[in-house]
Amino acid sequence: MPRFPDGFTWGVATAAYQIEGAVAEGGRGDSVWDTFCRQPGAIRDGQTGDIADDHYHRWREDVALMADLGVTAYRFSIGWPRVQPTGSGPANDPGLDFYDRLTDALLAAGITPMPTLFHWDLPQPLEDAGGWLARDTAARFADYAALAAGRLADRIGTWITLNEPFVVMALGYAIGTHAPGKALMLGALPTAHHQLLGHGLATQALRAAGASQVVLTNNYSPVWPASDSAEDVAAARAWDALQNRLFTDPVLTGRYPDLASFGLGDPTAGIVKDGDLAAISAPIDALGVNYYVPTQVSAPREAQGGPALPVLEEIDGYPITAFGWPIVPAGLTEVLVQLRDRYADRLPPVYVTENGCSMPDVPATDGSVEDRDRIGYLDGHIRAVADAIAAGVDVRGYLVWSLMDNFEWNEGYHQRFGLVYVDYETQRRTPKASYSWYRDLIALQQSAS
Ligand code: BGC
Repeated sequence: MPRFPDGFTWGVATAAYQIEGAVAEGGRGDSVWDTFCRQPGAIRDGQTGDIADDHYHRWREDVALMADLGVTAYRFSIGWPRVQPTGSGPANDPGLDFYDRLTDALLAAGITPMPTLFHWDLPQPLEDAGGWLARDTAARFADYAALAAGRLADRIGTWITLNEPFVVMALGYAIGTHAPGKALMLGALPTAHHQLLGHGLATQALRAAGASQVVLTNNYSPVWPASDSAEDVAAARAWDALQNRLFTDPVLTGRYPDLASFGLGDPTAGIVKDGDLAAISAPIDALGVNYYVPTQVSAPREAQGGPALPVLEEIDGYPITAFGWPIVPAGLTEVLVQLRDRYADRLPPVYVTENGCSMPDVPATDGSVEDRDRIGYLDGHIRAVADAIAAGVDVRGYLVWSLMDNFEWNEGYHQRFGLVYVDYETQRRTPKASYSWYRDLIALQQSAS
């Protein structure tokens, strides 16, 4: 393994709804995910995040696991409906108290807290008022950011505003496989602007509360044309604009990319108001990159009357994860180098805020989990980060998704991404072989510095 720069951040990541459970405790309100999980057929086997990893009660044990792992940073998310049960109004103190205690425990263990403010758990009353289709949600998000940072920014310097707004737009509002389960197709586009505006307004609120580093996390994917044909190449370019540029160009360049190839004209017409792009493009201190898979697309096969969407193709020829996702470490180097080439001096330092895999982990009779496949995955992707650094990309950290197995959205508990195995019957946590491997890697990197 190559040597990483001094001070490189080694971490793990989780998200509130995926691990906390205790959905009706401490004054927490419902989120869109609570509602979505109750819909028959929405989640595999009807599972819910009601208990999840019971982290709300077992957080001390989880912090101890991270301390033993030796990570220098922990990316978790703050549950908006814990802090503001209805999505507006004053803070719910028991909710903030939970994150306050967690923050102090992390700092005492020498772990830098890196909270994300929005990892998909929108308070249900805000969804009832239009959710991210409504401009007002952006202002509500900034109010919530001010409450969270007002309590915690004296101890937390780095704040991530949104997690993967593309996924919220695409799966939540365009196709509906995620909460809130809307299938609006291209009618989901206003959620892009309103999430970005929320990011911009929250950035102001965070800075006013004393945050020193503001970060936006997107999921990036190299987009490959299925063939060399001009049509497939054009389709790849169009999808690249939608997935990789729609949530980045406005932030780093102050302009939306051209989505004309979708037959949309200007998708932001009528909803972008004076001053919005100035707020959205206020400088950020780092960009969070989540990477899982490349995307392969071909040209739309037939005109269906509406806008022409590229066709997403299977990628063959690579080993796959339990999810069936192709394992392509070089794709991580590709997205990092592409970001640098695309945005040049406008690109701030980068953190890989999520990368990891679901594997078919089965405990042996002694309870151990020998996840050699996950070790191979992580080894390959960490080397891919090293390659990007060698190519001149300013990558400052790498955070594994995830610390422990957890509620994998519409897949329920069927996909295990953790370095720590969770027995959902007993809530017993068992570090997997990948946990020891990552601990040794971090220790070795740090002893060399
Ligand atoms: C999300 C995580 C999720 C992971 C694996 C990312 O898109 O931020 O919440 O668990 O991917 O699917």
